[in-house]
Amino acid sequence: MSFIGSYKPKQFNLSGLKGISDQTLEMHFKLYEGYVKESNKLSEKISEFIKDGNVDQDEMPAYSELSRRLGFEFNGMVLHEYYFENLTSGGGTGDPNRNSPFAKAAESSFRSYEIWKADFVGIGKMRGVGWAICYENPANGRLSNHWITLHETGNVAGFNPILVMDVWEHAFLLDYKPAERPKYIEAFFSNIDWATVEKRLRTDTGVKLARA
Ligand SMILES: [Fe+2]
Repeated sequence: MSFIGSYKPKQFNLSGLKGISDQTLEMHFKLYEGYVKESNKLSEKISEFIKDGNVDQDEMPAYSELSRRLGFEFNGMVLHEYYFENLTSGGGTGDPNRNSPFAKAAESSFRSYEIWKADFVGIGKMRGVGWAICYENPANGRLSNHWITLHETGNVAGFNPILVMDVWEHAFLLDYKPAERPKYIEAFFSNIDWATVEKRLRTDTGVKLARA
């Protein structure tokens, strides 16, 4: 039994990205599959502990460790899915169209798309191991960018991930030097699938933003 369900790795067809090699992607897909496998395994193990309806004192250390690891592995699985899904092979457009829903939401929240981008890129360049994520607050449709340490620290409860960028070194180390993260971020932007990003936005954003 697995209390959060049993997950299968999703398949992504992304070969031919600009500035992110197929070799990097292959390695990255394998890492992602590892997160899926570990999430399933942890869920099953935790289920074993709780099946008698009680966590005994002597079970607590192992149970606690497994539960903490579940937060890491499960977020690792989900964030990679967002990341791969918001990329497209064959060349994205770089920046979104000026009149697109995303550009408008960024403008409403940051005064201009350029300021939103400077903030998102700035977060992506932060030292450390983690993610840069643009979220939408479902209460008012506003966008905000956040740094996530590892996979699980810094996610904002209830906010929806709209654009997700992996900045762990494994995301670019085969293509760039560790100090060349800005080049990888540039490559990431040239492969963004803005249509997918915009599908994640609430459809009534404009109405709510006017009220916010
Ligand atoms: Fe990754």
